[in-house]
Amino acid sequence: MCSPEHFAVEYAINPWMDVTTPVDRELAVKQWDRLRETLVGLGHQVHLLTPEPGLPDMVYAANGAFVVDGSVYGARFKHEQRAGEAAAHHAFYAEQSWRFVAPSETNEGEGDFAYVPEAHGGLILAGHGFRTEIAAHAEAQEVLGRPVVSLRLIDPRFYHLDVALAALDDANVVYFPGAFSAASQRVLTQLFPDAVIADDEDAMAFGLNLVSDGANVVLNSEATRLAGKLKAAGYNPVPVELAELKKGGGSVKCCIAELRH
Ligand code: ARG
Repeated sequence: MCSPEHFAVEYAINPWMDVTTPVDRELAVKQWDRLRETLVGLGHQVHLLTPEPGLPDMVYAANGAFVVDGSVYGARFKHEQRAGEAAAHHAFYAEQSWRFVAPSETNEGEGDFAYVPEAHGGLILAGHGFRTEIAAHAEAQEVLGRPVVSLRLIDPRFYHLDVALAALDDANVVYFPGAFSAASQRVLTQLFPDAVIADDEDAMAFGLNLVSDGANVVLNSEATRLAGKLKAAGYNPVPVELAELKKGGGSVKCCIAELRH
């Protein structure tokens, strides 16, 4: 995770960002802190990246890389405004002993890649259409040695995979079908017949942008309806308020890069 100490909406690279809406940075830091405390309270270890001035989106740490089984596929940001973030993530992995592979193709890390370890022996789900290039899906498969399933995103409000789909445990996912092309919806139905299905309201509340440890599902507090569906499916929803960070087009999952050893 990376503190929003320098968070701002200074440019608009997704439909949620409005440079004329003021951001309360102090409140953003407070809300982000609660998220960090929530994860620690659930027994998870949180590592921190040092935020850098001039990189106002650095709080969305999920975009910096994608890690599977100790191997790290680095990010290469689509927009020049965020390009500088990749080096900070690279340095983090280099300091510890991860196998880091630098990308040639444009991809925004966990923003567009999800991993479901027990689905069909270990599946990578990958989004394209707005940020990550489909060529990066093939590159990720070569780097990580797991099958990558390409899914086409069609709604600019859901510009990253992680605002439309999330892994709930080692084998199942939750997603909002309307964010995907008709063919990609069929692929998801085939792969995950028992998926939890979210609707437009859940997605607009940033409910899909969640992080789950298989039992506890940390999600945006606005997504009350989705929380109910997850509870009915046997999970424990843990709501966290992240209204300030929504102004940048992100929520819980965007703030968290998962380290999979
Ligand atoms: N303002 C950031 C961007 O548009 C938000 C990134 C959200 N992160 C995510 N993993 N979806 O790039």
